[in-house]
Amino acid sequence: MENLLSSANPADPSTASSRRMVALAAEINPGERRVVQVDGREIGIFNLEGTFYALLNYCPHRGGPLCHGRVRPLVTAQSIGDLTHEREGEILKCPWHQWEFDIKTGRALYDPRLRVKAYRVAQEGDEVVIYV
Ligand code: FES
Repeated sequence: MENLLSSANPADPSTASSRRMVALAAEINPGERRVVQVDGREIGIFNLEGTFYALLNYCPHRGGPLCHGRVRPLVTAQSIGDLTHEREGEILKCPWHQWEFDIKTGRALYDPRLRVKAYRVAQEGDEVVIYV
């Protein structure tokens, strides 16, 4: 007989990792971020229009404090001088050597094969929680 009290599901990432409350949702408004300490790691929590994202504060290039970098739009060009700004506030620029990363995925714009570690994060009630 199946034990209905055992809800561990290996397909559910929340059961395979540890849940940590990192902030109250009201403490990180849309467009803001907070860098928190979780089990000895620094993790940046970003609020993009009400949705939270979490990235390790360690640039995969040379270990810079990525989550303290400037947040920018994605800038593309159809031709020389014809710049377009889109996805305002979704691109994170490392303060050391200016590599840029997509906050939503952790992928580097320069080479999408490179990425900063991203964590599952969610708002649960009034709390922001991450799974590490
Ligand atoms: S350490 Fe981040 S771009 Fe070099």
